[in-house]
Amino acid sequence: MESVGVGLLGLGTVGTAVARRLIGEWELLGERAGATPVLRCIAVRDVARSRGIDLKNARLVGDPHAVLADPAVAIVVEAMGGTDPATALIESALRAGKTVVTANKAVIAASGPHLSALAAEHGAHLYFEASVGAGLPIVGLLRGSLLGDRITALDCVINGTTNVILTQMRGAGVSFERALEDAQRRGFAEADPSLDIDGWDAVHKLVILAWLALGGYLPPEQVDRVGIRDVAGNDVAALAELGYRVRLLAHAERAGNGAIHLRVRPTAVGTGHLLHDVDDADNAVIISSDLAGTVMLRGLGAGGASTASAVVSDLVTAIRERGLPSTVNAAMPREPILLGDEDVEVAGYVHVRLSTEADARALVLQALEDRGLPVDAAVDLSGSELIVLTGMAPRAVHDRALETLDTLTSVDQILGALDRVEA
Ligand SMILES: NC(=O)c1ccc[n+]([C@@H]2O[C@H](COP(=O)([O-])OP(=O)(O)OC[C@H]3O[C@@H](n4cnc5c(N)ncnc54)[C@H](OP(=O)(O)O)[C@@H]3O)[C@@H](O)[C@H]2O)c1
Repeated sequence: MESVGVGLLGLGTVGTAVARRLIGEWELLGERAGATPVLRCIAVRDVARSRGIDLKNARLVGDPHAVLADPAVAIVVEAMGGTDPATALIESALRAGKTVVTANKAVIAASGPHLSALAAEHGAHLYFEASVGAGLPIVGLLRGSLLGDRITALDCVINGTTNVILTQMRGAGVSFERALEDAQRRGFAEADPSLDIDGWDAVHKLVILAWLALGGYLPPEQVDRVGIRDVAGNDVAALAELGYRVRLLAHAERAGNGAIHLRVRPTAVGTGHLLHDVDDADNAVIISSDLAGTVMLRGLGAGGASTASAVVSDLVTAIRERGLPSTVNAAMPREPILLGDEDVEVAGYVHVRLSTEADARALVLQALEDRGLPVDAAVDLSGSELIVLTGMAPRAVHDRALETLDTLTSVDQILGALDRVEA
């Protein structure tokens, strides 16, 4: 059978799992692809370090450019991470007409449309299934199975680290700091966890999904983003009592006029919502579309094996699609119109400590209603604390009402505020 040379940039968690699959299952993969993928050249930072894997005849090199320059390499798999030098390396490979498979969400979120266009220009292809949700086949679903649909919304839990932390805060009744330390000890959070807990990782994945699903590419910096650093243990516990679980919800929607909205925010998820019981490191993506209705994918969104599933699948597809024009790449982005804060409707959760003023509770509820914020429920806690579940209203109305609460003499302190979604 014909063979196709593969070059690998990176032999860490993902690269090693990919190499093992290519070497261990070359026959099966060859049958499926119509030609056998053969690992020819691999770049790492430290060539001297033992890797604990038999790389057969593949060369280990310290310079990733050597992989691109290898004439035996037709397809480049990028599993290095980071944007520099990964973006430039992917660009070089595509310019040389070599197809690229990448697991790199940071690169695709920042440069996906540009790299896609570059691939098409040079007769190459760009695949990035592993960049979102690891083995969850969400990119393939959006690029293939749902191409006849108009997708109206995406609701996702796509960051395992924050979900592990929030699950631990609820289960063990601990603070964010304690749950983060625990997640770091158990290997679920990096030593520098900021990409995850500040919401950037989820933003990168949401940008990629929204680009494919809604046809509008929005740079990561323009996404409405709130991380989980300020989520209080008290709020997680109080919400749990009321049947809610806090998740870092990634949401994208497209309005009737074509305007789009993307946000990543800690959100109280009600009982019966499909994301309510997606605990720990599980990921889930819910797609709402006009023909298929509600479609949900759920599974392990990280780890070497799960990510290799996506990378190797892309590799097999890449071999099958050799010579075809790049039409399977995402449509070119149109400059998106963004929904403004007056048009984005959300429900909320507000936790306040009342002052000793007479009728403080009634005054707070009246103040919210007066500012156009419906009150769905109010729950009294000990210590003059009050929880208010606010109904659907524009984000701008929520923000203005909270600013007002902050100035009321009947409010001692706003202790917490979160978005809320119901089934
Ligand atoms: N891990 C996951 O669960 C997961 C899931 C989905 C997507 N991803 C994505 O997959 C990519 C790789 O993640 P990972 O967890 O496998 O990372 P990793 O374990 O840190 O591995 C990175 C690899 O790249 C090599 N490398 C880094 N910079 C290099 C350079 N300048 N020149 C040559 N080699 C270089 C490293 O070499 P050394 O070994 O010599 O240090 C290492 O082998 C990232 O984009 C990540 O976002 C990961």
